[in-house]
Amino acid sequence: MELLRNPSKQSSAYLLGLLAVFTFAFLASFSEAKVHFHKFVIEAKPVKRLCRTHSTITVNGQFPGPTLEVRNGDTLVIKAINKAQYNISLHWHGVKQLRNPWADGPEYVTQCPIQPGRSYTYRYTLENQEGTMWWHAHSRWLRATVYGALIVRPEKGSPYPFPMPKREFPVMLGQWWDRNPLDVQKQALFTGGAPNVSDAYTINGQPGDLYRCSNKETMKFPVRAGETILLRIINSALNQELYFAVANHKLTVVEADASYTKPFTTSVVMVGPGQTTNVLLKADQSPGQYYMAARAYESGQNQAFDNTTTTAILEYKSASSRPPLLPQLPAFNDTNTASAFASQVKSLKSKVNVPTKIDDNLFFTVGLGLINCTNPNSPRCQGPNGTRLAASINNVSFVFPRRNSLMQAYIQGQPGVFTTDFPPTPPVKFDYTGNVSRGLWQPTRGTKLLKLKFGARVQIVLQDTSIVTAEEHPMHLHGYSFYVVGMGTGNFNPSTDPAKFNLIDPPYRNTIGTPPGGWAAIRFVADNPGIWLLHCHIDSHLTWGLATALLVENGVGLLQSVQYAPLDLPRC
Ligand code: C2O
Repeated sequence: MELLRNPSKQSSAYLLGLLAVFTFAFLASFSEAKVHFHKFVIEAKPVKRLCRTHSTITVNGQFPGPTLEVRNGDTLVIKAINKAQYNISLHWHGVKQLRNPWADGPEYVTQCPIQPGRSYTYRYTLENQEGTMWWHAHSRWLRATVYGALIVRPEKGSPYPFPMPKREFPVMLGQWWDRNPLDVQKQALFTGGAPNVSDAYTINGQPGDLYRCSNKETMKFPVRAGETILLRIINSALNQELYFAVANHKLTVVEADASYTKPFTTSVVMVGPGQTTNVLLKADQSPGQYYMAARAYESGQNQAFDNTTTTAILEYKSASSRPPLLPQLPAFNDTNTASAFASQVKSLKSKVNVPTKIDDNLFFTVGLGLINCTNPNSPRCQGPNGTRLAASINNVSFVFPRRNSLMQAYIQGQPGVFTTDFPPTPPVKFDYTGNVSRGLWQPTRGTKLLKLKFGARVQIVLQDTSIVTAEEHPMHLHGYSFYVVGMGTGNFNPSTDPAKFNLIDPPYRNTIGTPPGGWAAIRFVADNPGIWLLHCHIDSHLTWGLATALLVENGVGLLQSVQYAPLDLPRC
């Protein structure tokens, strides 16, 4: 804890770090692991969509941003240079960042944001991780346009656990506002009401044929008849679960959240914000053009949402000029299809190493809430019945600090930035998915963290509530992947449900949707020290406080402790 107070110790820590990087690069030349250097210049560029040009925050002028392609074992060194007018930070979604929260990115959690005119270098190594990940801004709603794919292939010489596809494409699903997304967020924060819904969904940044002024740029994915291709589907939309399908083609799911799955075939995929799903597609139809399409899965009741459809074209070589067919997509509120899909996802291994004894048994209610106003007619109380919308875990609506990041305050021993009294179970027990009495709708605000001992075997039951509305919440944990050992509808029953847990081949994910009005149980070993955000990946819910952070203490010795902070870590 004292290490960072002493500047000479600090610079020797830095030298040690450099030495480590060089030693690593040296060793890497034998193991073929590479170090990839990139510059990410964050700046506003004109981007035209839906007939209008907006000054859009991009990376290196690209929207979506650059795709990073690396291998398991490689190191990334990415210098983020902020030439935009907003504070920003970048997160590498799915990367575990072992003992290295400094590279994780959520603003005010593991770092202060990078201020305009400043830069910060993210350095991290992919340790025993491969598959489809992605990166995105983790500052206000900047991730609406600041995101890209992070593709981690197996080490040289190790094959995929399925036949090598002929081609691979990232399929990034996004959400576009015909406005500055930060203004949409600002307005919602001011009024206390729900944010305006988006104007389009996008595939690799393009809305597609069904929107105005979008025809010419519709994304095309070329394929030859008979080939099998791999689609890396990433839901990078800010606020919406999405259904995805390809006309006349079956999809075989082989990976979810950068973890291989038992292959299964489906005609439709459901991806929540933050989740990734890899599918194989065999071009076994008559040479032609086929639409890929995505549109909303909306699990909430009486919620406004964008009901448009984004398309791209799967185009066979020497295709006839017949207009493409649209795929069938489930109804917007089709929860059965969504749950059936989620429950088919299982680990590829016949038996995984999931903790069976539990040290910390946690029960978290997740859901929305309403903050009552003294003056319900105030312009700041435009939520339901003159309230302000909120969200919480165990009734705590998370408040991000401003003066410092949680990690910096923790390492420097600065008091008053956070407390570690996050409740392990709800402060009041009630029928979570029933008709909840109005007295229980109002959360309290706080920056409360939950402390875990290094190596603790943890179970968290994430219980959706029906406050305001039951709905799916895609819950994402930084710094970890976890086994999803069970899911169910209604209230979790601690005496009967654990007997039905899958401890054989549960999926290993970094983002899991709570079934609407139901629960999901996850397990992991807390072997990555640091402060790790757990939050709903629907950014409007995150804005309302649907988050908390786990403080995993150091274990014994350097190899079980958080690394030294880099010298260029931004200050608040
Ligand atoms: Cu992809 Cu904290 O998020």
